[in-house]
Parts: sequence; structure tokens; C-alpha cells
Amino acid sequence: MERKVKTIGVLTSGGDAPGMNAAIRAVVRTGLSAGLRVKGILRGYNGLLEEDIIDMDSKSVSEIIQRGGTILYTARCLEMMKEEYQDKAAEICRKHSIDGLVVIGGDGSFRGAQTLAKRGINVVGIPGTIDLDIACTDYTIGFDTAVNTAMETIDRIRDTSTSHERCSVIEVMGRHAGYIALWCGIANGAEEILISERYDYDEQRIINNIIEKRKIGKKHYIIVNAEGVGDSNGMAKRIEAATGMETRATIIGHAQRGGSPTARDRLYASMMGAKAVDLLLAGATQRIVAYKNGKFVDYDIEEALSMTKDVDQYMYELAYRLAR
Ligand code: F6P
Repeated sequence: MERKVKTIGVLTSGGDAPGMNAAIRAVVRTGLSAGLRVKGILRGYNGLLEEDIIDMDSKSVSEIIQRGGTILYTARCLEMMKEEYQDKAAEICRKHSIDGLVVIGGDGSFRGAQTLAKRGINVVGIPGTIDLDIACTDYTIGFDTAVNTAMETIDRIRDTSTSHERCSVIEVMGRHAGYIALWCGIANGAEEILISERYDYDEQRIINNIIEKRKIGKKHYIIVNAEGVGDSNGMAKRIEAATGMETRATIIGHAQRGGSPTARDRLYASMMGAKAVDLLLAGATQRIVAYKNGKFVDYDIEEALSMTKDVDQYMYELAYRLAR
């Protein structure tokens, strides 16, 4: 029987995430070992539309498993939301004989992938984002590294904050999702965790808490603030003015997106890369690889995109129970 997929492409799209290189390496090497031709598409869908496509061999992914970022570069491509560009992208895939495409990215990238699947390209997505905000999966490539980077940074800030008996407002990434903030809130023993999924913007409550805790001898106060809530500098000024406690804001920013991936990110990204190729070899299309209840599984893209998830309420409440 003739095998359906002969040439696969791989691209990274959206915000980069540590571990994407491990996934690319796994796609390339499992593809090659199954006898496929593998092409790397540079700068996500932008590179596809510009036909920035390179041949990948085993050596082209040497020495990358330990590196942050993505060797294929990445971008957010607004054009892929328009039908004419979706048609063009599918045509370019056909022109380069790409009959299977692995898209590593977030929900926006999967929406682009779905439009290609509808145009006859076999597509499999791999969740890659430090935000952990893809509903169908308990794991996304890069979250583990990012949350560890944020945690280590907050530990350092805590040292100086304690020495100076200050309040620290520390902003972590997550424009639409508070997972990094929530995890750090617990892992760093923060007094407050502000995430847009739960925060009621009652700053006076925070101020009253600081005043109360200072009365009982608390020397420092850590507020982990998610990017989605934002305004860390303004918040720090208002807290200092209202409490008299010296307050500093730190925005950790893009440091969270870089760095050498953790063992978990290298391993899970490798598993997901290999699974994506296995799915294409089996003739599957319009799937997303996911990690659910301790297993690597896959979902239909449409079904996956219609799922929703929320932060764990028990975890959120636990953070406050532990911050006494
Ligand atoms: O989605 C990943 C992420 O790092 C978010 O946490 C953050 O809000 C956003 O990307 C920042 O995007 P950019 O690098 O384009 O500023």
C-alpha cells in the first residue's frame, strides 16, 4: 500500500518557548528514520507564505536539544486569518510537496493549521507556549522552564526584599492566563497572587492586609502579579503611599521565555514531536497532540479549540491558605 505522507514540514509559530527545539529535533529525526523527507519552514506562517523553506537532515538538529528559543524562528502571522492567504499557504505546501505539516505553537497557530487541514494538507499541532493556556492539555512546551525561571528570580527578589523589609510587586508573564503567577505564588510562598481569572481589583484589601501583617511583625510582602492584571509600577507606588512600606515593582518579562529547557520540557517535547510524526504516518490529520491525565494523547483540532479550562480553584485557595 502506498504511504500517504512522503514529505513533512515543521514550523514554530507564536511566542517561542523553551523546548521547541527538542520538538523540532524529534520531528526531524523520527520523520527521517521513517523514510520521510523533512522540511523546516522559517518564521512560522510568515515563512511559509514567503516560501522560506529549507531541507532538514539529521545534522541540522544536532546540538539543539539543550537550547532555548527555536532554530526555525517564529512569528505571529495576522495574514493567516484571511482566506486568500490560507489558500496561498496550502498552495505553497503542495508546490513544495509538503503533504504533512507539524505546527508547534498555541491556539492561534492551531487555527491556522485547521484552515490548511480544510484545504487538504495533513496537519498535526503540538502545544508550545509558556502560558499553559491550551485547554485540551495539562502540559505545554516551555511552561516548566518558564515557571522555574520565574520562581528562581522571585527567590532572588525575596532575599533583597527581606533585607530591606520591603514589599515587592513581581510581574510574571501571562497576558491571558495566570498559570505562571499561580504556580509561583505557591512555589515562592507569596502573600498575594493576582491573576485576571480571579482578581477582584480590590487593592484596598491588599493594603489592609499589609498593614495588619506588619503589625504582627511581618518583614516583607511578596505580591505575584500576572501580566494580564498588569500595572505593577502603579500598584507599587499606591501601596507604598498607603502603607508606608517601601515597595518596588519588578517585571521579569522575556527572561521567562528564554533559557535552557528543563528535563521535563526536553523529554515531553521530544515525545510530542515523535507522536506528531507517528500520527501523520498513520494518515491522521487535523489533530493536536496533548498530555492528559498522565498520557500523551491526541484530539481533533476543532474539538480541542472548543474546549475551555480554568485555573484550579483548590490550588488558588491553597495559595492563600498557605500564605499566613
Ligand atoms: O504567549 C506567550 C507570551 O510570552 C505571553 O505570556 C505574553 O503575554 C506574550 O507572549 C508576550 O508577547 P511578545 O513577546 O510578543 O511581547
